[in-house]
Amino acid sequence: MSSAPVPQHCPTPRELDDLELLVSGALVPLTEFNRPGSPVTLELPPSVDELARTAGTVELVDPEGLPLARVAWPEGRIQPLTHAAFGPFRHLRLTPRVARRRHGGRVFVPVCEPITTDQLGHLATLGPVALVAMVGQGTAAVGPVTLVRATLAAAELLPDAVVIAVPLASHADPDDDAYLLGQIMAAYAEDDPVEELDPDDSPVPAPVAAVLLADQPPPDRQGLVLFFTGLSGSGKSTLARAFTDHLLELGTRTVTSLDGDVVRRNLSAGLTFSKADRETNIRRIGWVAAEIARHGGVAVVSPIAPFDETRQQVRAMVEDAGGAFFLVHVATPLEECERRDRKGLYAKARRGEIPEFTGISSPYEEPRDADVRVDTTGRSIDEALTDVLVVLRERGYLDLLGTLHPEQETEDDALQVLYVCTANICRSPAMELLSRRVLPDSADVVFSSAGTHGHVDKPVDPEILRSLPADVVSDDFRSRQLSTRLLEEADLVLTAETAHRDFILEEQPGMFRKVFTLGQFANAVERVGADLPREELLRMVAESRPTAEPAGDVPDPYRRGRDAAVACTARIEGLLARVLPALSAHRGDAG
Ligand code: ADX
Repeated sequence: MSSAPVPQHCPTPRELDDLELLVSGALVPLTEFNRPGSPVTLELPPSVDELARTAGTVELVDPEGLPLARVAWPEGRIQPLTHAAFGPFRHLRLTPRVARRRHGGRVFVPVCEPITTDQLGHLATLGPVALVAMVGQGTAAVGPVTLVRATLAAAELLPDAVVIAVPLASHADPDDDAYLLGQIMAAYAEDDPVEELDPDDSPVPAPVAAVLLADQPPPDRQGLVLFFTGLSGSGKSTLARAFTDHLLELGTRTVTSLDGDVVRRNLSAGLTFSKADRETNIRRIGWVAAEIARHGGVAVVSPIAPFDETRQQVRAMVEDAGGAFFLVHVATPLEECERRDRKGLYAKARRGEIPEFTGISSPYEEPRDADVRVDTTGRSIDEALTDVLVVLRERGYLDLLGTLHPEQETEDDALQVLYVCTANICRSPAMELLSRRVLPDSADVVFSSAGTHGHVDKPVDPEILRSLPADVVSDDFRSRQLSTRLLEEADLVLTAETAHRDFILEEQPGMFRKVFTLGQFANAVERVGADLPREELLRMVAESRPTAEPAGDVPDPYRRGRDAAVACTARIEGLLARVLPALSAHRGDAG
């Protein structure tokens, strides 16, 4: 440790009265910068330094731009312009002159940390004391405002004590800090005694502990920012949504969700995907999340956030606000995200239709500081989420493991129903969307669709869309090509026409027990009895080997105009009304 150079000049109370300057966000009593031998320096970035030398002065301003002082540069002599007028406990920020007038004759005690029980006992023997709390940046491990509150709480426990707050910033060198502290105490105490407190291990008194607890709550009550980062399609939003649901179920914390796509439509509307705009987007999310954490809430954020530096900035913002920052890297590989391509964006990016697409034409910097890394490939939502919940519990933040419902842990029990037509833009999408309207995707039954001769990545045909009820949600729909894997994953395949069924069975003759036309299946359900338990019903339909009559087909409405579309939808609705009640495992439960 270097020994501190001892300045020749000691600030007088008068000078300290005049010079309270805001430097690096803290109020520091100073007379000069850069004086030879002085431990106090003002460092300027090289570009500003050059400008300052030319101009001969530097103006110090507060965060709102209000000029506080002028510094002759490079000599460092300071001309004060104003006193700081705001800030918590401003009324305790007495200048040495005022402090002496009000509190002269006491024992002056510098306070840099919350007062312990043993220290309190010692203070009680000193007679009237003035506790001088050092509230500059970095001086106390607790925040400056907390230190004043803790000192006030300790003062209440003494027979006669007052509290003065003095802005002394730490200069990161213990010798410099000790030297400046001595100067300040000399200025405040003048001829009165100064008593330094010896550090000890005794606990803080209960009222002080209460103050500290409010300032630094235990992890399970601390504000928390759960930050999911990963490629588009990696499963961030899905995990974030599932997490939020579980937290709402638990009901012990307030939660705000800031999903990447949702933020882009609101808070960051108008921003592009350039590096600069992405940084702005993430910093906005970080700013809001940090405020939520400051109030002790939980913010669940799920943007791509491809750049390490911006993620670090968010971490710093959250931690400065007293919150915990928990980073989850949703590390699903690009190939898997691209295979899923739920929004069809990767296909477009590959075709060059979306510039600067993350993972394709714009980088994703993998985090090295993630608290948890999850790859969602081949895993259920709850399985992947469990990895996150386990670490959250280990760290003491939240225990959501109890909210996982074993029967929902995997979707293995869900009946996977695949609708098939030719191009997957008219009939099978209508079947999928109408089914989901009646029985929303759940652990119970999940609907999807595909085409035998797929028009890949197309939205629903507009004419069909117009014929569907207004509350059908089709935004996310994109057409898909039927594949062996889709057929294998399905428990039940329902086709629009006999021809589609024949097409499938030609390739996969072994699947005859689960591939039917929608009309054929509707008839079979009625024949075996729609009120049978689902598994039994499906087994009986499979064994009854119903015949597929072309008369039961749903004809293709494509390019046949409005009436054909309306008739097609009506026919599908009629068939689904006979089929869907039998497909819900929980039918009857509601009534
Ligand atoms: S970030 O890079 O600024 O963090 P953010 O999460 O807000 O991205 O938005 C990503 C979403 O916007 C993706 O899920 C995707 O749906 C859409 N998107 C549109 N253009 C792009 C692009 N060029 N790169 C990545 N995602 C894009």
